[in-house]
Amino acid sequence: MRLDIISIFPEYFAPLDVSLIGKARERGTLDVRVHQLRDWAYDVHRTVDDTPYGGGPGMVMKPEVWGEAIDAVIGASAVPGGARGGGHVQGSDEDEGRDGGEARATPQASAPGSVLPQPVAPGADAPGTVEPGTVEPGTVEPAGVEPGTGASATVASGTPVLPRMIVPTPSGRPFSQELAQELAQEPWLLFACGRYEGIDSRVMEDYSGRLRVDEVSIGDYVLAGGEVAVLVMVEAIGRLLPGVLGNAQSVVDDSFAPGSMENLVEGPVYTKPPVWRGHEVPAVLLSGHHGNVARWRRDEAIRRTVRNRPELAAALDPAKLDKHDRKLLDELSFRVRRKDVAN
Ligand code: 6GU
Repeated sequence: MRLDIISIFPEYFAPLDVSLIGKARERGTLDVRVHQLRDWAYDVHRTVDDTPYGGGPGMVMKPEVWGEAIDAVIGASAVPGGARGGGHVQGSDEDEGRDGGEARATPQASAPGSVLPQPVAPGADAPGTVEPGTVEPGTVEPAGVEPGTGASATVASGTPVLPRMIVPTPSGRPFSQELAQELAQEPWLLFACGRYEGIDSRVMEDYSGRLRVDEVSIGDYVLAGGEVAVLVMVEAIGRLLPGVLGNAQSVVDDSFAPGSMENLVEGPVYTKPPVWRGHEVPAVLLSGHHGNVARWRRDEAIRRTVRNRPELAAALDPAKLDKHDRKLLDELSFRVRRKDVAN
């Protein structure tokens, strides 16, 4: 999967170099490219914001800068009314003339956004050996560091694709495990990180004619900008990609995972030693009886969900509750209407 992230703070994304996501990048499962929005600003101060029409506090991000940045990253020829529905094959000679021939400085590799070291896939050319022309304009990687640029933006059949665009904002649709799973199916995602009061709404309107655009919120609180929200989403999506987690089963057993964990959070977990500071591991977990262990885990998930997330418990699908679930919910004085319960 290819991920492009446009932000005025590329430094926020340094954590994507470590742990599961960092390993996925080294292996080539994830191709993450972070871009400095200011590289597409056009004044000496590299201004990206302006005062809001209609008045009020704060600043709004300018549409022209965002338009230039997104066009460059998606490889569109990008004149309004032109190239609608069109595609683009990355990493080819098409990169030339991406601005319709307009004389405009290509963002330099030495720009502030270029600080993130890019992992090099095993067997790929060493840094400095990639032909200059193969590095996509508008990316922040120092020339020659990015191997095989752009190939992941093209599906196996060679069909050109455009990214699905995600705009983090507290006014967006809620991010959820279900949305993470949906986004994990995409070959290419583009995250557009707003700061201040947000991005001029015409940017989302304009790209909605060309790309799938979703404004997404990670929760009911307000962050200073979308960067941290994008880190959250990238981690949630990235761990779902094939081969990123050591054990594919862990994704199935996750809290919120569609299936038996829908609307449930996971119960407690234990490891050795069997007794620690006088606290014992529940005996059933040491019994070796898989059926009893599974039942115990489900009971604990239900208990925890009722205690910590009553609104989720209320949304439990009666068709997915068995007699034992119902009895436990009754004991927890959490009534589910009998006629709605299967068997
Ligand atoms: Cl996605 N962005 C910002 N700035 N604040 C948020 C958010 C996103 N989700 C919750 N709060």
